Amino acid sequence: MKVLVATEKPFAAAAVNGIREIVEKAGHELVLLEKYTEKAQLLEAVADADALIVRSDKVTAEVVEAAKDLKIVVRAGAGYDNIDLKACTDKNIVVENTPGQNSNAVAELAIGLMIYISRNQFTPGTGSELSGKRLGIQGFGNIGQLVAKKAVALGMDVVIYTNEVKEKHQRWKATFSLEHLYSSCDFISINIPATPFTMRTVDYNLISKMPKGGCLINTSRKEIICEDGLEKALSERPDLKYATDIAPERYAEFKEKFGKQIFATPKKQGAETGEANINAGLAAAQQICDFFETGSTKFKVNK
Ligand code: 3PG
Repeated sequence: MKVLVATEKPFAAAAVNGIREIVEKAGHELVLLEKYTEKAQLLEAVADADALIVRSDKVTAEVVEAAKDLKIVVRAGAGYDNIDLKACTDKNIVVENTPGQNSNAVAELAIGLMIYISRNQFTPGTGSELSGKRLGIQGFGNIGQLVAKKAVALGMDVVIYTNEVKEKHQRWKATFSLEHLYSSCDFISINIPATPFTMRTVDYNLISKMPKGGCLINTSRKEIICEDGLEKALSERPDLKYATDIAPERYAEFKEKFGKQIFATPKKQGAETGEANINAGLAAAQQICDFFETGSTKFKVNK
């Protein structure tokens, strides 16, 4: 089988080596398409691929249409909003993700953004500490849980918001009201996927409820935020701050207008660690080999 790794933002070399080893050991062929800049390159490369590994690369209906032999797509990562699930399902293509494999890297970045913002973005001036502050965690999946544990170690008071309370969540302070979460926490960490139900749900109503000096941290997707609402809240409340790993559409304009009230990493880097690349990349390769060998679809997301 031909396994294509198509990554506009490539994996670390060690991850690629590991993927190759797994794929070739199982008797398959590995083809690499890295740092591609044109959609046409992906369309050409995918034409005879049996399996596809991607990161945030867009697997649109057009890509699926071009992939005549494709049987499985694995998103090496958590969020699969970059994949047209319907187009895949219609062609009987299995779509999987690799849940949890890059979560620690993202959780560490969320903590890093909190420190960066609290310390005046590493410029002269008096900052503040995380210890003793209250952190609200919106979404308590793999990433949210790791952020919570790290925050507790830093002396923060953690409150979680999740609509899926499991037994293992019982030890955490929880709220079932997003309004309550936003109005009672100094920091909010957004750790939810982008779905039709979550898009633009963090709006003016929520952001403006944050207490004085509040800071919103987003390491999920820019689509979760209602940008007009964010703009209004930051305009009215110069004490509020927004730090994100995914720049808003109008970031240049917002930066000009709000200065240090807003910060976005230059390119999404939540999962950009060697460890996360290896964990997610190797898991993706193994899932594909298992699929071809045993028919396993354990991590299928297009049910
Ligand atoms: C994910 O959904 O797993 C993260 O957003 C990582 O995305 P990336 O692989 O494009 O860095």
